[in-house]
Amino acid sequence: MALITRLFILYASCLTLISAITFNSFPNKPRVFVLSDISNEPDDSESLVRYLTYSNQFQTEGIVATTSTWLKNETDPDAMLDIIDAYEKVVGNLNHHAPADSQYPSAEHMRSLVRAGSPVYGMAALAPNATFSAGAELLLDRIQATTNSSSPLWVLAWGGTNVLAQALVKLHKDNSPNKAATLRKNLRIYTISDQDDTGAWLRQQWPDLFWINSIHGWNQYYMSTWAGISGDKFYGIDKGGPNSTLVGNAWIKENIQIGTLGAAYPDVAYTMEGDTPTFLYLIQNGLGVPEHPEYGSWGGRYQLVTPNQHGLGFRHYSDVQDQVVGVNGDTFKSNHATIWRWRNAYQHDFAARMRWTLTDDVTKANHHPLVKVNGSSGLEPVDVYGVAGSDVVVDAAPLTAPLM
Ligand SMILES: *[C@@H]1O[C@H](CO)[C@@H](O)[C@H](O)[C@H]1NC(C)=O
Ligand SMILES: *[C@@H]1O[C@H](CO)[C@@H](O)[C@H](O)[C@H]1NC(C)=O
Ligand SMILES: *[C@@H]1O[C@H](CO)[C@@H](O)[C@H](O)[C@H]1NC(C)=O
Ligand SMILES: *[C@@H]1O[C@H](CO)[C@@H](O)[C@H](O)[C@H]1NC(C)=O
Ligand SMILES: *[C@@H]1O[C@H](CO)[C@@H](O)[C@H](O)[C@H]1NC(C)=O
Repeated sequence: MALITRLFILYASCLTLISAITFNSFPNKPRVFVLSDISNEPDDSESLVRYLTYSNQFQTEGIVATTSTWLKNETDPDAMLDIIDAYEKVVGNLNHHAPADSQYPSAEHMRSLVRAGSPVYGMAALAPNATFSAGAELLLDRIQATTNSSSPLWVLAWGGTNVLAQALVKLHKDNSPNKAATLRKNLRIYTISDQDDTGAWLRQQWPDLFWINSIHGWNQYYMSTWAGISGDKFYGIDKGGPNSTLVGNAWIKENIQIGTLGAAYPDVAYTMEGDTPTFLYLIQNGLGVPEHPEYGSWGGRYQLVTPNQHGLGFRHYSDVQDQVVGVNGDTFKSNHATIWRWRNAYQHDFAARMRWTLTDDVTKANHHPLVKVNGSSGLEPVDVYGVAGSDVVVDAAPLTAPLM
């Protein structure tokens, strides 16, 4: 029986110090639109800091401050601008660690993408007397700019989704059903659970939306996949599986809260960076394929809830489990493990980037080797066709970057 085996170039766990450096470039950048209930607690600010250190591999199209069940009547775009101010002081250094064709966006450009969403909770943003927010206006514009031939627009929701609801309701009102459906088809949504009452409403209105999110009882966040990023201490999940030291305040102080951008990274209050899995999912490390949530990635693994077109024809992807051996030697089978199994890699990768912010000297920080597997270089997954039960041999010997 023939099967397709996919091999992935795992690179982040083998960070190496390189002398004559050729950096990975990013010819295809996922288009990203962030919705964040920043300032409800420190973790959205932490996620924005991490996001900026990866911003040369994304085409960011909007950063909108939203409400959520934790921040019901205000939004805080100023908190985003403050972090971008800190980024402005280090972007010059970051660019020394990135190739000429994949430089970091300027702080000015990032500032120009910041907007406020509706300062009301959830469905109240859809009331007849509610104003159409500046955030929804930018999002609608970006949705309408997304054609079948452009790459899809990824809406990453770190808080509530009423900005998306406003944009999609207007899209529906202003266009024919076919046109609106075509434009919705090019959207990809990843939300950190449901943090207001518009998420479930949107999926019910438009089951054709490609939507990744964990489903569980209201506020039962410890059940979610995303909690795997750091929730072992606070939520007490999978204790002994992931290495908790790597998400503790002492490690973060030493490795992340360094330099000017690091100073904008607040101490962990509940869990570290609950929203970060949305973009870990899109990081180009050869591991994930964004169109295939079921393959898994640093941002977790998800699967279609209804794998056929009957009924609602849902494109909703939700939780699955992986079986992973923890640092204590026990085997864990859980949805959280689909993220924490990569903790060593995603934490050290971030730590290396924070070191890039400190210096323009490339010999003073770690960088990725450029890996070639059977002639394929670059960050795309390598497809290998094999037969079940037989050996698959791959050759990843030639590292094109000299090691020091
Ligand atoms: C906003 O909500 C907070 C707590 O949720 C409350 O203390 C405050 O009075 C509210 N402000 C307004 C203007 O409604
Ligand atoms: C809209 O109307 C509702 C119900 O009359 C009211 O509770 C709400 O405060 C109004 N919202 C705004 C933004 O004026
Ligand atoms: C985009 O694709 C849809 C269906 O896949 C098709 O109906 C529509 O005509 C296409 N639009 C354009 C502008 O090609
Ligand atoms: C957990 O991470 C810390 C910090 O890198 C390391 O010192 C420790 O050895 C790790 N623990 C295990 C069990 O791998
Ligand atoms: C990869 O290259 C090696 C060495 O040339 C070869 O033996 C192997 O069959 C190749 N594997 C695949 C999957 O093509």
